[in-house]
Amino acid sequence: MSKPRVIVSRKWPEEVEGRMQELFDVQLNETDTPMTVSQMHEALQNADAFCPTVSDQVNAEVLSVDNLKARIIGSYGVGFNHIDLDAARSRGLVVTNTPEVLTDCTADLAMTLLLMTARRAGEGERHVRNREWTGWRPTHMMGTKVTGKTLGLIGMGRIARAMAHRAFHGFGMRIIFTDPYPPPDEVVDSLQAEARETVEDVLREADFVSLHCPGGKETYHLINSDRLALMKPGAFLVNSARGDVIDQSALIAALEQGAIAGAGLDVYEGEPAVPEKLLSMNNVVLFPHLGSASRETRVEMGMRVVENLQAFFNGEAPRDRVV
Ligand code: DGY
Repeated sequence: MSKPRVIVSRKWPEEVEGRMQELFDVQLNETDTPMTVSQMHEALQNADAFCPTVSDQVNAEVLSVDNLKARIIGSYGVGFNHIDLDAARSRGLVVTNTPEVLTDCTADLAMTLLLMTARRAGEGERHVRNREWTGWRPTHMMGTKVTGKTLGLIGMGRIARAMAHRAFHGFGMRIIFTDPYPPPDEVVDSLQAEARETVEDVLREADFVSLHCPGGKETYHLINSDRLALMKPGAFLVNSARGDVIDQSALIAALEQGAIAGAGLDVYEGEPAVPEKLLSMNNVVLFPHLGSASRETRVEMGMRVVENLQAFFNGEAPRDRVV
């Protein structure tokens, strides 16, 4: 029996590419060049499975392709706001993602952003590298203490819980959260976390706010100028979720006006573009969407796609089916 034809949109870790070559008739992307719309059309016309990742816009235009051959989109990444799920459903496509395996690393990264913004770590590093440091002194580069402060989580899914675990057990932080689908009582109790009714309630009370909601229409510009105005002037905002959860212009204005103390960002509106104003601000820590970027996790993410494809082609239900 011939192997299923699989087309992968970007370069994947070599262990995963090797496994794909064993199992499938796979077309890899050795140059790692992003695919154009017409290349994605060709992939959907020629492969049994198309494997995009979170930076590929698999929108209605892409999915309206004539002569669709593919039956499954095995996406590499947990977020699926880059895929038009309604369009996929209407074309009879199965869609899978890669949850769980990136939870710890993404929470580590969110905590890194929190610590770096609070303790001015990016600024301090630039200071040393620029040979501006003149020595220790009592008032030099004083930041904000983290231990014992209140962490407000917007969304309390897997990554938020892992972040709360680190913050509560490692830094003695008080955890407050809001989520329309709150976690089970035992999870809340183990973190001594306190639920709040609304996003506004969390913003008013937290010293650090970390966003952990999915991207997409429902959360577009959830953090807008009105909500930013509710935050404490000394508070910090951390975003490791999706860029457009924050109205980026409103965030820039809040930072310029000193309405909040700083921000740690791993994701942006219109990635990979980052506004000049953010680049010039010392109280902002900027990462290039690194949440899941450890070697171990990126391999596990790829293997999870492989597992989903294998199940699908064996006629079983893929473990991570979204549609
Ligand atoms: C995801 O998986 O959705 C992240 O944004 C990248 O790992």
